Formats: sequence, C-alpha cells, structure tokens
Amino acid sequence: MNYSNDIILRAAKGEETERVPVWLMRQAGRILPEYRATRAQAGSFKSLLKNPELAAEVTVQPVDILGVDAAILFSDILVIPEALGLQYEMDEGKGPVFPKAIESRNDLGMLSLADVESRLDYVFQTIREIHPRLNQRVPLIGFAGAPWTIFCYMIEGKGSKTFQKAREMTMREPALAKQLLDMITDATIIYLKRQIQEGCAMVQLFDSWAGVLGPSTYAEFSIPYLRKICDAIHEAPITLFGLGASFALEDLTTLNCNTIGVDWHIQPKVARTRIGKDKTIQGNLDPAVLYADVDVIRKETARMLDGFGPNRYIANLGHGLYPDINPNHVKIFIETVKSHQFSHT
Ligand code: CP3
Repeated sequence: MNYSNDIILRAAKGEETERVPVWLMRQAGRILPEYRATRAQAGSFKSLLKNPELAAEVTVQPVDILGVDAAILFSDILVIPEALGLQYEMDEGKGPVFPKAIESRNDLGMLSLADVESRLDYVFQTIREIHPRLNQRVPLIGFAGAPWTIFCYMIEGKGSKTFQKAREMTMREPALAKQLLDMITDATIIYLKRQIQEGCAMVQLFDSWAGVLGPSTYAEFSIPYLRKICDAIHEAPITLFGLGASFALEDLTTLNCNTIGVDWHIQPKVARTRIGKDKTIQGNLDPAVLYADVDVIRKETARMLDGFGPNRYIANLGHGLYPDINPNHVKIFIETVKSHQFSHT
C-alpha cells in the first residue's frame, strides 16, 4: 500500500527521515470526547470492540483530530484469551475480569487453537472498515499482547500489581506455564499474520507486565516466546514494547524486531547506547508530563528528542495516555515533535 505519509514506516525500517514520526499509545481512547461519544453509542467497551464500523471510527479519530503519523487498530490484547476459549468481562472502573481463570493442567482443556482465527473475525472486519476511512493517509498499526502479559491475565483472572499467581505458576509448574505460553504464542502468530494480510502495515507487541519479572525469569518466560513471534513474522516491521523491561534491553535487542519501545524509566541516551544502532527506538515521555503546563511539555519533549536524536527514532510516550489528559496538551506534544530542529553535532 502507498501512503501519503509513510514516515513512521521509513523510521521503523531504519531509513533517514526528514523529521521524527509520532503517535501515542492509547491514542484511540477515552481522552477524546469523540471516543466517549462513540463508546456511548455502542453501549459498552466490549460492544464497541465487536462493532467493526464503530471500532473503525474510533481508530481513525486520532488521525483526524490529533494529526498523528499512524493509526492504531482499536481492539484489546485480551481478545486472544477469548479466542482461545477463556471469556472475560470489562468491568467499569475495575478493568478486565475472567470469571474462570486457568488454575491447573485440567483447565487447559478449555482452550483450543482451532477456532482462534474465526473467533477473531470481527477484528479483521474492523480492519477492512478502517481502510476507506483512513484512505491511505497514514499506516495502520496492528497489535497483540506479548505472551507473558496474556499469560498473566489468564492465570490471575484480573489485573494485579504483582501477578503473584502467574509468577507462582512459573515456579511451581514451569512445564505447564510453558505449555500455555506456547499456545498463546501460536495464537498470536496466527492473529498478527492475518492482521498484516488484512492491511496492517506494522505490528506492536505490548509486554505490559514485563516489570513483574526479573532478568532470569524474563529470559525464561518471555524472551523465547517473543523470539518465536519475531522469527515467524516477516511481512511487516515489528515493535516490541515492555513496561518496566529496561533490565532486558540487551536481550530484546537480540530479537528479530525492527523497533524497541522504552518506558520513561530510562534516559534516552542510555537506551540508545544499550540498544545500539541496528534498531529503531520508540518512546518515552512520562505520560504524566502531559498534565503539566504547555511550557513544561515543550521543554521535556525537546529534551527527549535531543536525547534520542533524529534518526532510527519514533516519538511516543513511555506508556499509554491516561484517560483524563487534556487533548490540547497531546496536540502540543505532537506539534513539538513535528517542528523540532535538531542542532548539528
Ligand atoms: O489507542 C490504542 O492504543 C488502541 C487500543 C488499545 C486498547 N487497549 C483499547 C482499550 C490497545 C493497544 C490496548 C492494549 C492493552 N489492553 C494493553 C497493553 C497496553 C498497556 O496499556 O499496557 C493492556 C494491558 C490491555 C488490557 C486492558 N484493556 C485493561 C487493563 C483495561 C482496563 C484499564 C483501562 O484503561 O480502563 C482495558 C480497557 C481498554 N482497552 C480501554 C481502551 C480504550 C478503556 C475501556 C473503556 O473505554 O472504558
């Protein structure tokens, strides 16, 4: 596909760009009144997710309203457990809840890879609905959760600060944990390949709970599955984003991905040194900076840009936007990135 603006794809592939591309994690969400209106029309988060026309609408809203260099598919990482056979509900204010979590080997019997693709048909329909609305203005980013993060929700049955049950399973029953991680990995490969076939130009894996592991457990329970996915997907550039995964940057750098996303706990120059020259870096403004006065937003954004430098770089936050951030502040962030002049070094 040809895009009027493909700067993000060129940055992901390591080509020099005339300016730094920018988008924001969770840009298709509650910060926009337009999103809240469409969600109200759908009735609930899950009915919005399963309504391809409305989901396509909220995917394109940030491109129209904010001027980002990419759209991200409106969906959720938890569609994979559901496609494997584990239902979840999105409780208002409480987040996701799985009425029945995976507790034992027996429970794996509830899961099957056979229907994953057909059960995700509504997502592929959404992608088809997005194309005419996006009209090749910017690329569409597809995504999935990293196997470790999906495993966390499937074992714990809900969000958690520590994901203690998930970590307990890796210690008490590592073979069972790895069997489930393998299954999630295979489902994710099927899912991402089909997203790309339907027209996603790049894909991102979110390892949101990387930070509950340590270097050796991450090397055992996350990296091998990320590696399998990166080795299986050749059709489009891949971004790996781990929250709290700074300790694993050297391991992540060995994977067959194009871009590594970093959170705000690491200084841009340090990230660049540790990741090296062969990957694009994405990140990493603390989302809380967008609560500050516009002068502070401009100053901190400029500092971030100078730290990462003009090439092999995609500007973003270090994690998703918080729902109560002022959209005008998001626009200041985007404009600052787009107009930044790098001093020659
Ligand atoms: O704009 C985008 O980034 C695209 C859409 C998107 C959503 N979720 C929509 C959503 C993406 C990429 C995700 C990924 C996702 N989902 C992650 C990884 C990224 C991260 O933030 O670490 C995780 C961990 C989830 C699971 C999830 N979904 C939780 C824990 C929650 C509840 C917490 C919350 O923010 O309310 C969700 C719900 C969710 N997913 C919302 C949106 C817009 C809010 C639901 C609503 O509209 O009420």
